[in-house]
Amino acid sequence: MSQGENAQALKNGALIAFPTETVYGLGADASNEKAVARIYEVKGRPQDHPLILHIASIDDINYWATDVSEYAMALARSFWPGPMTLIFKRSESAKNFVTGGQNTVGLRVPDHTLALELLQECKKIGVHAIAAPSANRFGHVSPTTAAAVKEEIGGYLAPQDLILDGGPAQVGLESTIIDCTGEVPKILRPGAITQAMIEEATGLQVSEDTNSSIRVSGSLEKHYAPNAQILLDVQATAGQGFIAPADVATPSGAIRLASPANTYEYARTLYSALRDGDTQGLKTIAVIQPSGDGLAIAIRDRLMRASKGR
Ligand code: TXA
Ligand code: MG
Repeated sequence: MSQGENAQALKNGALIAFPTETVYGLGADASNEKAVARIYEVKGRPQDHPLILHIASIDDINYWATDVSEYAMALARSFWPGPMTLIFKRSESAKNFVTGGQNTVGLRVPDHTLALELLQECKKIGVHAIAAPSANRFGHVSPTTAAAVKEEIGGYLAPQDLILDGGPAQVGLESTIIDCTGEVPKILRPGAITQAMIEEATGLQVSEDTNSSIRVSGSLEKHYAPNAQILLDVQATAGQGFIAPADVATPSGAIRLASPANTYEYARTLYSALRDGDTQGLKTIAVIQPSGDGLAIAIRDRLMRASKGR
């Protein structure tokens, strides 16, 4: 089907799983309460967790948000389309059923041709955003391929729902979430847009205040978890899965799931490696984490949560 037809299906209330550069999302028309309610059912997600609204361009910010600061505009101009979600005070258009009852709204322009085409077609027929969480069951590893989406939620979808295939996600980790409701930006979830990039683009120092009244399910202690138990920074023993940078040798008898040559490749391949471990029925996966800052911080954040189990 064309993206025009897919947009029409969304408008009619279908759910559409679609690719983005970070991970695959499970989308619904952000103004359609019934369709949005089905996202929560399919994911098995608590009702009070807000959804990210995916928009076609920077021009759509003001439909959903108010009190947009200069630094937030600088971020949007610098990094959209891209792996960054900005949290704003919501406008009248952003209803409780997408914001989890909060007075803020999360917006993002994804950097994926297929997603952008779909969003542009949506806009033509009056669908101003696609509300979409990652297309996994609540608490589980985000899908980075269409096949992984099918495996995660295929069994929960209705006949009219669709899964679009846009190839493997190029970033592989969920977007950086930045709270833009204060005087200075605050990172709620680390990602590929790093603290240094945010400070460079805004000329401001990001807030180090870790207390937040804003609810981010991605910051729950247990999240992003496979079925296997994750052990951090230990060598695998025979029969265990093993994920480590390419220069770390595989311990004897361990099952190598990924050997990323750099941090970008680490992010891109991590979730499919964890999924692969589950498919193989492994009980335990030992992971040697990447060192350094920037994207490595986001990888360690997800691995820490994955290691807390499900
Ligand atoms: O890369 C991504 O962000 C992917 C792709 C599909 O765009 N989406 C994603 O969505 O990771 P999800 O729902 O799995 O995680 C989004 C996080 C959640 O932890 C949610 O609580 C938070 O964003 N969030 C959404 N709206 C928010 C708001 N108004 N205030 C605070 N947090 C919000
Ligand atoms: Mg998620």
